[in-house]
Amino acid sequence: MKIIGSFPKTRLRRLRKSSWIRNLVSESNISNNDLILPIFIREGKNKIEPIKSMPGVNRYSVDKLSKILGQVKKYKIPMISLFPNTPDKKKDFLGSEALNPNNLICRSLRFIKKNFPNIGVMCDVALDPYTTHGHDGVFIKNKIDNDETIKILTKQSLLQAKMGCDVIAPSDMMDGRVAAIRKALDKENYKDVSILSYAVKFASNFYGPFREAVGSKKKLKTDKKSYQMDYRNNFEAYREVGLDLKEGADMIMVKPGMPYLDIIGEIKKKFHVPVIAYQVSGEYSLIKHAINKKFLNEESIIESIISFKRAGACAIVTYFALEIAKKLKI
Ligand code: PBG
Repeated sequence: MKIIGSFPKTRLRRLRKSSWIRNLVSESNISNNDLILPIFIREGKNKIEPIKSMPGVNRYSVDKLSKILGQVKKYKIPMISLFPNTPDKKKDFLGSEALNPNNLICRSLRFIKKNFPNIGVMCDVALDPYTTHGHDGVFIKNKIDNDETIKILTKQSLLQAKMGCDVIAPSDMMDGRVAAIRKALDKENYKDVSILSYAVKFASNFYGPFREAVGSKKKLKTDKKSYQMDYRNNFEAYREVGLDLKEGADMIMVKPGMPYLDIIGEIKKKFHVPVIAYQVSGEYSLIKHAINKKFLNEESIIESIISFKRAGACAIVTYFALEIAKKLKI
């Protein structure tokens, strides 16, 4: 890029001198339309349980979902993302609970689609909330078996679609799962159900608080590096995106968010598809703890979200979604 202008004729501070002109020339903005709120669900009745690792975030029993969905509706957040905290006694080696039409996700989907039909619902496709080992796939001969896992994930996706899920979001990082899921959805006539592929999901250290929230942390004895991406790579990320788009993904997720802004920007430039950033639990907890301790002010939340928009994301999955929407006073 050629550098245009020189001092003193050019003074960049002219465009910063007051808030109206800063607003006028701002290159990125956020609105409620850019936000996706993750919601954790738990068993039981009349429960709203704070999550220790994520101050300000709760687990809701299905009958209490209205409490938070009422806010989602009021502040016009377009979509939520559901995550179950499955009781230990329902977990097994294969994650069979994922295919139970009465599991937490299915019950929540029925409840939400009946009572809040205009809120978009996205569901994770992966087995980690349901397995006794906390991995996203099934173990066969001591490794996560790609193709056997896909068979279960395809059934899990069909079940979610049947219960009313709008956006199927495979977060498992098995090769070839998008094609299998798209094929199965089309065959069963769920042609309008979208796939948001977690195409670029790194084996990250920032997922810790989430794993506590869904109850997989203590179960997980090994890392997920044999299926999630190596955080030293970016060419690999573009290969992942290319493959998933070819297989039929409608949108692409990059996860975590802030350490991977370079990748968000490149995907946007290279593929021209909707890219969604996931500001994960570790990022949330870092900022939230620092705000609670008054080391950071609240505007740091907005700054972190704008960074995704600036990089090229069209939307952000963030535990701050409601807080932000309230601040924006829509
Ligand atoms: C698992 C899944 C994870 C997250 C979303 N889906 C964790 C993992 O891969 O271990 C993390 C989200 C967060 O940290 O906020 N399929």
